[in-house]
Amino acid sequence: MKNYVQLIKEAIKAKNAKVCVIGIGYVGLPLAVENAKSGFNVLGIDRNIDRVNMINAGQNYIQDVADEELSMLVQDGVLSAADHFSDLSQQDIIIICVPTPLNEYHNPDTSYVEDVATKISKSLRKGQLIILESTTYPGMTQEIILPLLESSGLKTGEDFFLAFSPERVDPRNKIFSTKNTTKVVGGVTPQCLEVARYFYSSIISNVIPVSSTTVAEMTKIFENTYRAVNIALVNELMMLCNKMNISVWEVIDAASTKPFGIQAFSPGPGVGGHCIPIDPFYLSWKARQFDYRMRFIELAGELNIQVNQYVVDTVVKALNKNGKAIINSNIFLLGVAYKKDVSDYRESPALKIIQQLKIMGANLVFYDPFIKSMQNPDGSTIEIDWADLSEEQLKKSDCVLIITDHSDIDYQTVVDKSNIVIDTRNATKKIKHGREKIILI
Ligand SMILES: NC(=O)c1ccc[n+]([C@@H]2O[C@H](COP(=O)([O-])OP(=O)(O)OC[C@H]3O[C@@H](n4cnc5c(N)ncnc54)[C@H](O)[C@@H]3O)[C@@H](O)[C@H]2O)c1
Repeated sequence: MKNYVQLIKEAIKAKNAKVCVIGIGYVGLPLAVENAKSGFNVLGIDRNIDRVNMINAGQNYIQDVADEELSMLVQDGVLSAADHFSDLSQQDIIIICVPTPLNEYHNPDTSYVEDVATKISKSLRKGQLIILESTTYPGMTQEIILPLLESSGLKTGEDFFLAFSPERVDPRNKIFSTKNTTKVVGGVTPQCLEVARYFYSSIISNVIPVSSTTVAEMTKIFENTYRAVNIALVNELMMLCNKMNISVWEVIDAASTKPFGIQAFSPGPGVGGHCIPIDPFYLSWKARQFDYRMRFIELAGELNIQVNQYVVDTVVKALNKNGKAIINSNIFLLGVAYKKDVSDYRESPALKIIQQLKIMGANLVFYDPFIKSMQNPDGSTIEIDWADLSEEQLKKSDCVLIITDHSDIDYQTVVDKSNIVIDTRNATKKIKHGREKIILI
């Protein structure tokens, strides 16, 4: 009988193992590039034909990937992409990085992962290592992927290997990238863990094994729940501080001087991106199966949405103070991405704020250095025009609303030329004059 553990480890060591990344988006593409850089031959599979064509033409579309690095890897023939699954059986290691959103009832939409796992099961062969990196609830790898793969007649841990390793990428983080961010990995069996750990150790600086895929899944959800809850806490503190006429920003700066027991989070217009507003609800959904309510998650979710409305109310009050009604007012939004210096606006608080201001009859335009137009998840266009960050535009706006604190903006000029500036991120922290025009949330 062949020892598949030994075989795949030898292929990994010799860098002969073929790696396939399914879903080459914000997570999958940097991972595919990192694998190719460390000597593996990598195939990216994506149903988005535009992304596939761009990769094969050596063109980059993810900010965290270096353009030249990607085009060199494609030129060298170690990185390519396809929009079909017909070459799956030739791959040794298959990593799943497809979306895990919420459905219309705010429950996990696992259809992307299930679709991919079903496709893998059709061509599964002995010796393959399958890894899920998409964020999910504790239990999904064992409860959904395992039975789908074993429907092929092959046995996990003997014929093929199955693991979960959460992706922890922090887009635009200049210090931590795929390579130097510690990787947690859990396997369905000890053999699965051994193989997956061996694989990641060949590309990532530090790999931490855990006892099961469920522990690895819970680790990721805990990390993101921790962020969601703490952001909600600081947002609530901000709303109270504003009532009490205390600067929440000064409080945070002062509290951060304590060398232990506190980690600073910043208030803002709400939470966004494909992780913080979504992942905790995978856990609260799972908890209900155990007749348990995750009260922190639900409260954090409510508060992080309440703060969107708080921003809108602040705009209304600020205009009112200047003798203006919100209806027919001209509001200029600065930044619509979910965080600074990224081009990703998925779940961005800007989307809810835009929606609410529009309902109230405001005329809106936006400037974002990374985004020129926006679409809803169904592909329809979000009706709001992009405007240049010009003095003329600032002057003719009744109010400028900073939603995202992108770095490459001259905030002093913004304040100098504007009538009112509502700053939801303390982007104007360092400006020297004109502070009387700023309303800091
Ligand atoms: N974006 C982040 O910062 C981040 C960080 C950590 C973890 N995650 C998790 O990683 C996963 C992927 O997120 P992302 O931000 O990279 O998403 P993304 O939308 O940027 O990329 C996903 C890709 O999968 C493709 N895809 C969808 N269904 C497919 C299918 N059936 N077959 C082939 N391709 C398919 C899409 O076309 C897309 O290109 C999610 O579970 C997310 O929660 C994301």
